[in-house]
Amino acid sequence: MRFTIAIDGPAAAGKGTISKGVAAHFGFAHLDTGLLYRAVGRRTLLGEQPKTAALALLPEDLNRDDLRTAEVAQAASRVAVVPEVRAALLDFQRAFARRAGGAVLDGRDIGTVICPNAEAKLFVTASAEVRAQRRYLELTGNGSQVTRDQVLADVKERDARDMERSEAPLKPALDAVTIDTSSLSIPDALRLAIEQIQLKISVAG
Ligand code: CDP
Ligand code: CDP
Repeated sequence: MRFTIAIDGPAAAGKGTISKGVAAHFGFAHLDTGLLYRAVGRRTLLGEQPKTAALALLPEDLNRDDLRTAEVAQAASRVAVVPEVRAALLDFQRAFARRAGGAVLDGRDIGTVICPNAEAKLFVTASAEVRAQRRYLELTGNGSQVTRDQVLADVKERDARDMERSEAPLKPALDAVTIDTSSLSIPDALRLAIEQIQLKISVAG
């Protein structure tokens, strides 16, 4: 079966957690598209131009263990405003979305630009304070020396850049269902997401 689930939202809203859970529940493949931009951003930190970095991307670039740092996240959001970078990553994402067996893609522009015809679309969000606190716990848990205030400023700066760019800005698709996870546990957020998607699968089936 070909069935695409698009999950978008701002930084640390719970997109990845929900996407993984949804993919496991339905037996679909999952692509974290943020990793593509992080991998391009990482290459630019090593001196490459954004477009060159995007065109040179290799599968092993996505498996590096330094992609989750705050520095790489900022570099990712800077390369993400470059139209040639977004264009270079488009075909790979669309091919993944239409693979047999179903696919879940999470990012910023999946429901609006990459897969406007996705069978199910979610917009996962939460307050900036809650998202920053979650990311702070993650980063410090991995040994990063960051403060809460730094993480909050970083998240807000990245959200603004993602929402204000002219190419594929972060916004909910008109037909997306919004899930605010600010006061939801992970199991509750996942349950809501699965319920919404099951409705679409029932209609499609
Ligand atoms: O993919 P995205 O950046 O949107 O977020 P994530 O990596 O799925 O989640 C960021 C952090 O928030 C993780 O540590 C999750 O365990 C946590 N989280 C949470 O505490 N409650 C939720 N309802 C969802 C995620
Ligand atoms: O995990 P988190 O939500 O913090 O970030 P991410 O999903 O790994 O994305 C990192 C950056 O890549 C974002 O801030 C966006 O600038 C960019 N991105 C994008 O422009 N389009 C996507 N589909 C995914 C990520």
